[in-house]
Amino acid sequence: MAIRKELMDELNERRAAASVGGGLDKLEKRHQKGQLTARERIEELYDASSFQESGMHVNHQTAELKGKALPGDGVITGIGQIDGRPVAAYSQDFTVSGGSLGRMHAQKICDMMDTAANLGVPVVAINDSGGARIQEAVHSLSGYGQIFYRNVAVSGLVPQIAIIAGPCAGGAAYSPALMDFLIMTRKNSQMFITGPDVIKAATGQEAPIEQYGTAQAHASVSGNIHFIAEDDKHALEIARKLLSFLPLNNMQDPPHNIPTSIALTKDEGMNDLVPEGTKAALDAYKVINRLVDGGDFLEVMREFAKNLVIGFARIEGMVVGILANQPAYKAGTLDVDSSDKGARFIRFCNAFNIPIVNLVNVPGFMPGLAQERAGIIRHGAKMLFAYSSATVPKISMILGKSYGGAYLAMCSKDLGADFVYAWPTAEIAVMGAEGAVRIIYRKEMEAAEDPKAKEAELIARYRDEFASPYQAAENNMINDVIAPSETRSTIAMALRLSLTKRVTRPPKKHGLIPL
Ligand code: HXC
Repeated sequence: MAIRKELMDELNERRAAASVGGGLDKLEKRHQKGQLTARERIEELYDASSFQESGMHVNHQTAELKGKALPGDGVITGIGQIDGRPVAAYSQDFTVSGGSLGRMHAQKICDMMDTAANLGVPVVAINDSGGARIQEAVHSLSGYGQIFYRNVAVSGLVPQIAIIAGPCAGGAAYSPALMDFLIMTRKNSQMFITGPDVIKAATGQEAPIEQYGTAQAHASVSGNIHFIAEDDKHALEIARKLLSFLPLNNMQDPPHNIPTSIALTKDEGMNDLVPEGTKAALDAYKVINRLVDGGDFLEVMREFAKNLVIGFARIEGMVVGILANQPAYKAGTLDVDSSDKGARFIRFCNAFNIPIVNLVNVPGFMPGLAQERAGIIRHGAKMLFAYSSATVPKISMILGKSYGGAYLAMCSKDLGADFVYAWPTAEIAVMGAEGAVRIIYRKEMEAAEDPKAKEAELIARYRDEFASPYQAAENNMINDVIAPSETRSTIAMALRLSLTKRVTRPPKKHGLIPL
């Protein structure tokens, strides 16, 4: 007995038809534009031959399309392995009716998301679509609604990564926006709620797409995306790299390579990073580079709010989320944008059990009329809220300035840091020396014969009396003052000792983070 040839022929024919999507000529056009096809994107994302597709034979069920075949209804969905771990994905096929979203297309995505939720595996969504399928009218809108509902339902349960590799317009942009990380290709992709023509018609405004709809604009101005990819391949590489730091779901720890013993070697090179004089800026990247294993740091939102550097790395094999003030940009202050950036990252780390390491060097919240009017009180409060409510291990290392409310907002002991350390160069105080001496030593300064020399003397006195890390240590606000060379070993040991951390809080529906 053997399976009848015509049955096998039919299966193979159907598979072959589905695998060319909207046709070979359309697939070829993708290549000409420097894009991969929807299926190639899936192949590039997953370990070889591990992807199991569901719904290859699905077609639209719409009378208005008069029997037209739309292979897979314009989307490839399924589950496979990335670095040997299960991950669900969908990839919209622009060659099939512009990747437009109809009822069955949406149903396939929803099924895939339900599977991801049930199995506890991350979701990667590759977006490349003309949006709601016009012929399917209200079914298309409903389809988006059902996807949004699931994006929210699985938020915090499994990591969600969106790749924007083509058009993503109108309400369709809200599915990526509800996900955790957005990766957008530099060319060939656009994301916006309304296009330039609609903006012109509605408001009379000229709105060049380069100013608001491209990867560059979203990465540096709106803050809507987290990574720019040079092309499709690079986007998929970033997704794989990102997943390598993440647990599959919120019930797991991230993929630590837990060491049995911590290397306690000193890194004298860290001492050399400390700039001479208090005015020079310590480069956060240089500190991170020496701190993390192999200098391997996956920076998130590199081009947005550069005054706060965030990203993932491993320290002695343990996965961490790092937040570091960057003095070279806006003096490392916390402003509206960096507070949003930091708070969202802290909440992601907390949701997925990733310990947080803070490299503190912050002169304060950014002063100014524009910041006050933009709501620095509300936005800055997000940092306080996010740190206070995070129950993962929290380790703060104060490298330099740590002034005022920003001292708290970078996770002091009071906000639940498990370990706080300071370099001898740390200045922990209510405000910077220059401003403080004018307030508390005003009379002495006014009476001085040589005001400049007096100011220098008073600043030194202020640093000793009111800003010294030993003062904080004497008051039990920090665990220890350490040499910069001991930074990596100290943090690694603190991490190793805190992986068992368990915190229970009274049940509630949710806190009210100031949005
Ligand atoms: C049905 C669509 C479609 C759509 C594209 N196509 N978008 N079919 N519904 N929304 C089809 C085209 O008819 C064409 O079919 C094929 O896809 C390729 O489209 P082209 O226009 O030839 O491609 P291109 O020149 O590259 O332009 C791509 C595009 C453009 C910029 C995306 O197609 C476009 O502007 N589409 C409409 C975008 C839009 O306004 N969508 C609705 C957004 S509102 P054939 O058969 O000729 O190959 C929305 C609401 C969601 O999505 C609300 C959720 C809450």
